[in-house]
Amino acid sequence: DSEASLRPKTLEEYIGQDKAKENLKIYLQAAKMRGEPLDHLLLYGPPGLGKTTLACIVAHEMGVQIRITSGPAIEKPGDLAALLTNLQEGDVLFIDEIHRLSRQVEEVLYPALEDYALDIMIGKGPSAQSIRINLPRFTLVGATTRAGQITSPLRDRFGVLLKLELYSPQELAKIIRRSASILNVPCEEGGALEMAKCSRGTPRVANRLLKRARDFAAVLGDGVIDESIAREALQRMGIDDTGLDEMDRGLLRAIIEMYGGGPVGLETIAAALGEEAVTLEDVCEPYLMQLGYLTRTPRGRCVTRYAYEHLGMKAPGTAEASG
Ligand code: ADE
Repeated sequence: DSEASLRPKTLEEYIGQDKAKENLKIYLQAAKMRGEPLDHLLLYGPPGLGKTTLACIVAHEMGVQIRITSGPAIEKPGDLAALLTNLQEGDVLFIDEIHRLSRQVEEVLYPALEDYALDIMIGKGPSAQSIRINLPRFTLVGATTRAGQITSPLRDRFGVLLKLELYSPQELAKIIRRSASILNVPCEEGGALEMAKCSRGTPRVANRLLKRARDFAAVLGDGVIDESIAREALQRMGIDDTGLDEMDRGLLRAIIEMYGGGPVGLETIAAALGEEAVTLEDVCEPYLMQLGYLTRTPRGRCVTRYAYEHLGMKAPGTAEASG
């Protein structure tokens, strides 16, 4: 797909995530020096930050193949067994949404991760026996939005845990300009920065905004994405000057208008908005918290006075102008 063509293939080309990148570089080099596959790697952080991209880079840097699958796609232990027995020495198996693996599938994964072995039960009752199949050595790269979502026995079997953080506008502007040059769209610095500031810290959003701005530039302008075309595109897409979209503003407004600014439980807000709680939690909240518009408390979510100000609403307890 077109997302794939924008993906950097090497760590060198990968922009941002400096902390994760520097350590990963060392682990890759050390594994290569020993002639071993990289230890199993868990990537966690909000969606759209480049977990799949990093998994592909690991495979590329190690000079091996990658198999890509996801937790919900592996329904039965046999599905996982089929994937594992088809790997070649050193290959990377990428499991996205690894927290959604079933209990039974997870049990099959443990010996595979620890001993590169599959334990298969044959027969039933007193004559049942277990046979062990050896697997090639491989690297599991797991991805999840929060490390706390996966069971601790699974988490403990990863040798490397890397946390991905939201990107800065400067990093996103670099990513946008790199993508623009791959897509052959002229994009000025000012246009890139304008889109970067509205990308909610997320390269996936940045690349999507770039593609839509390209459409507006082609139809309404001369094909060049400058600052004013970028602004126009963002405004027409309903994205405000801090990058909030309809769903983000709906979340803040619901807490304010229906629950007096909070605290209110996430499930309650989700039901009121007709959205999934996990979507609000994984997609909206990290960015709203980074902006300081939302806080999580033991009793539920609260909006801050900055959220009221941003929405042009009056916060409770603020003095009304007199006279
Ligand atoms: N495209 C998506 N994510 C990227 C990143 N982190 N660096 C460069 N290009 C990207």
